Amino acid sequence: MNLYLGIETSCDDTSCAIYSPEEGLIAYRTAAQLDHAKYGGVVPEIASRTHMKTILPLYETVMEEAGAGLGGLSGIGVTNGPGLTGSLLVGLSFAKALAYGSGVPLAGIHHIEGHILANAIEGPMGTPAIVLVVSGGHTQLFSVEKPGRYELLGGTRDDAAGEAFDKIGKILGLPYPGGPSIEKAARSGDPAAFDFPRAMRGSGRCDFSFSGLKTAVRLKVEELGRLTEQAVADVAASAQEAIVDALAIKSVMAVEMTAVSRFYLAGGVAANGRLREVISERIGAAGAQVSWPPARFCTDNAAMIACAAWHHLSAGRADGLDLNTFPRGGLESWA
Ligand SMILES: Nc1ncnc2c1ncn2[C@@H]1O[C@H](COP(=O)(O)OP(=O)(O)OP(=O)(O)O)[C@@H](O)[C@H]1O
Ligand SMILES: [Mg+2]
Repeated sequence: MNLYLGIETSCDDTSCAIYSPEEGLIAYRTAAQLDHAKYGGVVPEIASRTHMKTILPLYETVMEEAGAGLGGLSGIGVTNGPGLTGSLLVGLSFAKALAYGSGVPLAGIHHIEGHILANAIEGPMGTPAIVLVVSGGHTQLFSVEKPGRYELLGGTRDDAAGEAFDKIGKILGLPYPGGPSIEKAARSGDPAAFDFPRAMRGSGRCDFSFSGLKTAVRLKVEELGRLTEQAVADVAASAQEAIVDALAIKSVMAVEMTAVSRFYLAGGVAANGRLREVISERIGAAGAQVSWPPARFCTDNAAMIACAAWHHLSAGRADGLDLNTFPRGGLESWA
């Protein structure tokens, strides 16, 4: 059995996983860093220090659970960008040390490719496909010919969808991160209570903009004054509806443009129940089959990185020990 180790430390989650192409996911552990909540966002210095404390015990745990020895691994995959440089360096240095000490091949993985290939952890992805990546830092529509071949169709001009959820959560005084908090509050709210903007609706391109929505919500909250619990629920439901509607409009456009029959969600916002519901309905009506990763593989995790490592290394694409991190940069094809 081939075993691939995945390491993910691009932001505030430390994660290790062992994936086998024959057997699927063998072992998986993520340690979420809770210290950031009181600051209302990720503090890079705290994130990298916490990764340093957490990564070795996490690695030891997954190796023990998999009954694996370092020399028995077929490959090591590590997220080397985009992300916080200090955080990325902890995972990359750790992965390089393992590769150097064992001779096991190493593959640097683009974090967004990881999110896309989270859809391949529990079985192969159907391609060609459209993938909507909706996370804390990205909102992009890709045409995926096959794993390794990606064409960017469009993305956000300003805030990412997850960032919009987080900022609106903050305006409403909801716990961080805003995405899950807004989804929870929205359950008792009216999605039609406020008509928030769907920017770029008529642009004719697969692009998004969420900064105007954030401002519209802030102005509405100022106008409402002291917020009752019902008002918070109504603003949350209406804002969620605006984000989901904007994402669905351009997703349908991408499916119609490319005439593919498969559509996937990826990234943290893909955990949102209302997004899944609306996308299933409208993409289904456009003639494509919709899938998404299990919720625990929507947000940052190393299972997707281990799975991506298998795709790279089995196709003969490996990296040397001169591999470096990159804070920003688009996903490029490698296959
Ligand atoms: N149920 C949910 N509904 C809406 N948003 C959610 C939900 N669960 C998580 N999110 C959002 O997902 C984001 C985190 O996702 P993820 O971990 O993929 O992002 P990231 O790693 O910070 O960013 P990137 O992947 O772009 O670098 C946060 O913005 C969070 O609010
Ligand atoms: Mg992410």
